[in-house]
Amino acid sequence: MLVHRSARRRGIAQRLMEQAEREASAEGKTVLVLDTVTGDAAERLYERLGWTRVGVIPNYALYPDGRPCSTTVFWKAL
Ligand SMILES: CC(C)(COP(=O)(O)OP(=O)(O)OC[C@H]1O[C@@H](n2cnc3c(N)ncnc32)[C@H](O)[C@@H]1OP(=O)(O)O)[C@@H](O)C(=O)NCCC(=O)NCCS
Repeated sequence: MLVHRSARRRGIAQRLMEQAEREASAEGKTVLVLDTVTGDAAERLYERLGWTRVGVIPNYALYPDGRPCSTTVFWKAL
């Protein structure tokens, strides 16, 4: 999920995720899984929307400048 910098902090990501969850549910999905960079705004967003944190995988991916970053895995039952 990506919201343009100029449009952040207006609830757009929350609305996008709520719509994605509604559509997944309408298609019969019952459990969703995602991961996101540990410590970023998205982590708070998913917790606020009721996603359950599984744990952190250290040094899972790389930032564009080559530094390693950890990822946090979440799940949610619909
Ligand atoms: C993470 C991301 C998608 C959030 O998008 P967003 O549209 O800003 O998200 P929201 O507006 O729903 O919520 C963000 C914050 O704004 C706050 N907010 C929402 N509506 C608000 C409003 N009307 N006024 C003030 N603040 C508001 C929320 O409470 C939340 O606060 P927090 O940062 O303390 O948690 C965006 O920052 C992004 O694109 N980041 C880069 C890519 C990324 O990390 N994607 C996730 C990978 S899985």
